[in-house]
Amino acid sequence: MLLLDVLNGKATESTPVWMMRQAGRYLPEYIELRKKYSFFERVETPELACEITMQPIRRLGVDAAILFSDILVIPQAMGYEVQLIEQKGPVLPTTFKEESQLANIPKPDAKNHLHYVLDAIKLIRKELDGKVPLIGFAGAPWTIFCYMVEGKGSKDFHSAKRMFCQNPTMAHAMMQSITDHTIDYLNAQIEAGAQAVQLFDSWAGLLSQKDFNNWALPYIKQIVAAVTGVPFIVFAKGAWHSLNAIAETGCQAQGVDWCCSPEFIRSTLGEQYVIQGNFDPSRLMLPVDQIEKEVHDMIDGFGGKHLVANLGHGILPTIPVEHAQAFVHAVQSYKQK
Ligand code: CP3
Repeated sequence: MLLLDVLNGKATESTPVWMMRQAGRYLPEYIELRKKYSFFERVETPELACEITMQPIRRLGVDAAILFSDILVIPQAMGYEVQLIEQKGPVLPTTFKEESQLANIPKPDAKNHLHYVLDAIKLIRKELDGKVPLIGFAGAPWTIFCYMVEGKGSKDFHSAKRMFCQNPTMAHAMMQSITDHTIDYLNAQIEAGAQAVQLFDSWAGLLSQKDFNNWALPYIKQIVAAVTGVPFIVFAKGAWHSLNAIAETGCQAQGVDWCCSPEFIRSTLGEQYVIQGNFDPSRLMLPVDQIEKEVHDMIDGFGGKHLVANLGHGILPTIPVEHAQAFVHAVQSYKQK
């Protein structure tokens, strides 16, 4: 399969394409399901998660499926309630504040706490029937920690940074616990049938290089080392200063956002390194006929090989389906020079 070949380092004739957050809110058929079922009903019912995972495969003809779920199932498995509030996003009514809460976290046991995700993966693999591979995922510990401390989205996640400054021992203990749960969860996803996995560190760009090195990277490293058997993609958004350090974790590929040019990324990591990215999601608002040229320029910039074409972050809810289709078509019509 094309995506797996590229992730395994092969120089392929064509470039695989998928889009972060492809399963979701810009698709009319998803919006229909949203009227009938709550967010966590959709996540926790394997048949619904399977249907939503398949929607972009049918609509867009992408080269990979990504499991429909959310990164915040890990705090749930750790005993924290997570709600999804319309127009507001995720909310954790109880946040991580003090040492004593560490003792209440159950031991990692994804097979028990997150069995519905594993059941969804098995169903999706059957439904995909070998057509395209299935990507599993989890949030990176720093990003999960941000939500567990802040209790909701934030521009800067000050409270999470404050905890690292004021009580680093407690913060690191929580990061270790998140890491242990994530390792167990990703290995369970692979056992259930995930054929590649991606770690989303969406808030990595809030950290200086030094803080990223101390607070985020050591845990990413542990996870990459302990999760084996399928290609591993690390997407640490905004951590352009640490491209080499992330490559040294041993992951097979790195996701990058649009703030780094393909030329900068290639000169830092080399022509052979597998990159995933990095089209600016808001540029999908361009007229359809202009999307193709911009996408071809991006692929040229990466040298046309060892690339998984993707956006530099999730697709926006306002993107018309035809523009998402134009992105996929542009990659699939690219001719190598
Ligand atoms: O990529 C996919 O299509 C698979 C599904 C997926 C979802 N969330 C479904 C979802 C994935 C990979 C995620 C990851 C995720 N969740 C991240 C990391 C990626 C990123 O975008 O930075 C983060 C930070 C979250 C936390 C989260 N979940 C937020 C901030 C929100 C609300 C805002 C938003 O992004 O829509 C969610 C809810 C959520 N997760 C929705 C979907 C489709 C929207 C809710 C809805 O449709 O009812």
